Amino acid sequence: MNLLRVENLTKSFGGLMAVNEVSFAVEAGSIVGLIGPNGAGKTTVFNLITGNYQPNAGTVDFDGVSLVGLPTHTIVEHGIARTFQTIRLFQNMTVLENTLAGCHCRMRAGALAAMLRTPAQRREEQKALEQAMAELAFVGLAHEWENKAKNLSYGNQRLLEIARALATQPKLIVLDEPAGGMNDQETQELIQLIRNIQHKGITVLLIEHDMGLVMRVCSSLVVLEHGAVIASGTPAEIQANPRVIEAYLGADSE
Ligand SMILES: Nc1ncnc2c1ncn2[C@@H]1O[C@H](COP(=O)(O)OP(=O)(O)OP(=O)(O)O)[C@@H](O)[C@H]1O
Ligand SMILES: [Mg+2]
Repeated sequence: MNLLRVENLTKSFGGLMAVNEVSFAVEAGSIVGLIGPNGAGKTTVFNLITGNYQPNAGTVDFDGVSLVGLPTHTIVEHGIARTFQTIRLFQNMTVLENTLAGCHCRMRAGALAAMLRTPAQRREEQKALEQAMAELAFVGLAHEWENKAKNLSYGNQRLLEIARALATQPKLIVLDEPAGGMNDQETQELIQLIRNIQHKGITVLLIEHDMGLVMRVCSSLVVLEHGAVIASGTPAEIQANPRVIEAYLGADSE
């Protein structure tokens, strides 16, 4: 079953076709990689899926819902969470507070209940705290909960973004270059974390330039070049595809 399906997705910026009739599907429970050279349109595809940009044409269907035109927070409520290529955290807030920001998108008690501190609101806040701590433990950051985000290493800031995304209780998590800025050890741990996310039943769509990671962790790949899909298939198929080797993998694949 496909959890996500994009068809003929198109986005131009002025005269530049950043994304040109892109179609692909993400099967529920899979880990799919979106790869391609710098400027190929990968992040723009993510921004179209998550509602940060509106497409000029095309459709995005997720779990039976058409997402085009919906605001970002509604798309989060439908079950898509993301991380950003350029880290976006509340730098002066603690690790726990950053993670709670993810939990809050699922909380039902309104502003009035929050002000009056009703029992229902306190119960919900307690549940959010427990869930946030559980997500931090899951990514390996529980011991940092009181630290400010800005004091974390670059790699740990990336993990905190993943914890915040998981706190929204997504069906699909989209990760934009999660290994960016990570050392080898951190990348190895990230590979395990991505697998653990899959084991929780969450589908993963990721953009990544680290081919070692992509080839080890992804069940299928979609390759973009100049805004268009030039290939899709298993990692083995992609590694052997002459067009992909020429456009992207080059000498690295040898
Ligand atoms: N908001 C924007 N306004 C104008 N042009 C944009 C905008 N966002 C992206 N572009 C352009 O669209 C093209 C695709 O950009 P995008 O960021 O999607 O590429 P990418 O595949 O994610 O690249 P990278 O691997 O470097 O992150 C690039 O030429 C980029 O300059
Ligand atoms: Mg990008």
